[in-house]
Amino acid sequence: MNDEARGQLVESFRRHVCQTSPSPLGIVVERASGSTLWDVDGRAYTDLLSGIGVAGIGHCNADVLAAIADQAPRYLHAMVYGEAVEQPQVELAKLLAELAPGDLSVAFFTNSGAEAIEGALKLARKHTGRTRYVAFRGGYHGDTTGALALCDNEYFRAPFEPLQLDVRFLPFGDAAGLDAIDEEIAAVIVEPVQGEGGVRVPPKEFHPALRAACDRAGALLVFDEVLTGLGRTGRWLACDHWQVCPDVIVLAKALGGGLPLGAFVGRPSLMATLSDPPLCHVTTFGGHPLSCAAGLAGLRFALRERLAERAEAQGRRWLSALRDLAGERLVDVRGLGMLIGLELADAPLTRAFARLAFERGLILNWTLHRDTVIRLAPPLVMTDAETEHALDVIAQTLRDCA
Ligand SMILES: Cc1ncc(COP(=O)(O)O)c(C=O)c1O
Repeated sequence: MNDEARGQLVESFRRHVCQTSPSPLGIVVERASGSTLWDVDGRAYTDLLSGIGVAGIGHCNADVLAAIADQAPRYLHAMVYGEAVEQPQVELAKLLAELAPGDLSVAFFTNSGAEAIEGALKLARKHTGRTRYVAFRGGYHGDTTGALALCDNEYFRAPFEPLQLDVRFLPFGDAAGLDAIDEEIAAVIVEPVQGEGGVRVPPKEFHPALRAACDRAGALLVFDEVLTGLGRTGRWLACDHWQVCPDVIVLAKALGGGLPLGAFVGRPSLMATLSDPPLCHVTTFGGHPLSCAAGLAGLRFALRERLAERAEAQGRRWLSALRDLAGERLVDVRGLGMLIGLELADAPLTRAFARLAFERGLILNWTLHRDTVIRLAPPLVMTDAETEHALDVIAQTLRDCA
């Protein structure tokens, strides 16, 4: 692409694609493969965010591309969700049932994470007959009105109030604060490890205590594993770290192998709520055959390559190397598996670090709710050489940024 064509494309992007930020990354993407994105000038970027948690198996995984090529000529959209028997969807649901704990064996497929959260909220409302919810400070569950109502950050909430969902916010990680979960609560929605809240891993007693509190109150426990699910934290599902079986697990991001796909998964008796009255929760495109074929191929690849185990081992390596860099500028390094947070001394330094790292070819950014925390969620397939390179650039950039 010549300079003029690129300039026009960027101009049209600014003018016609609704902008969500005054300073988008703005890479003019040519192609992507594994851990790398290339722009139209041939410049390579190492994607330490996996397209924000999507490309766990890497960009353009060969098995996923083959599955898309195989499915596309057979049928694309055939019928609204839940009416036709579509093999890729059924097989993916079956595989999720094998991975999920307990008897969580029924999946409702959606197009996105926020849409799956909305489904879980409706499920809890109807199943319990209750109208109140509990969520946690610093949590993020998406940007539809229901999902946004689960977020306590005034900066994001205020322009859209009233959000019309009765939500009580509790401190994340505080097992002693869970008494507020009472018999009026339909569901408690929690990220096992908070992502946008600044990569916060709760103390080990927190999730078991949360399970017990929900059991006492008769409230559903909904684990939002949109970011943490499918191997990222070193387990197929992060809930396995604490041997906690939620009532509902919400998935998206990596689920579609790079295509849009979300799901919420629960036990049969609970999920049956959604067929009474008939058609009380449906979607046109949810569980699209192309997305399910891609997701199925991606998940099979991840299982075959043992990517959850790899995430655990690689995560240890990253954490140890990054902790060696801790000091006045890098004040904390934390994470679980390949979901890692770097807490810098202040927000200007964090911005300067992200900017310089980007100039040096690393894609990374600070989290939505904590502008002093850089979140790293590299592809789980990142090679040793790519890892060494990324860690070197991070070390150098920490020294140089100002
Ligand atoms: C934990 C979590 N839940 C839900 C969502 C919303 O997913 P989506 O952007 O697909 O609607 C996100 C997105 O970043 C997320 O990180």
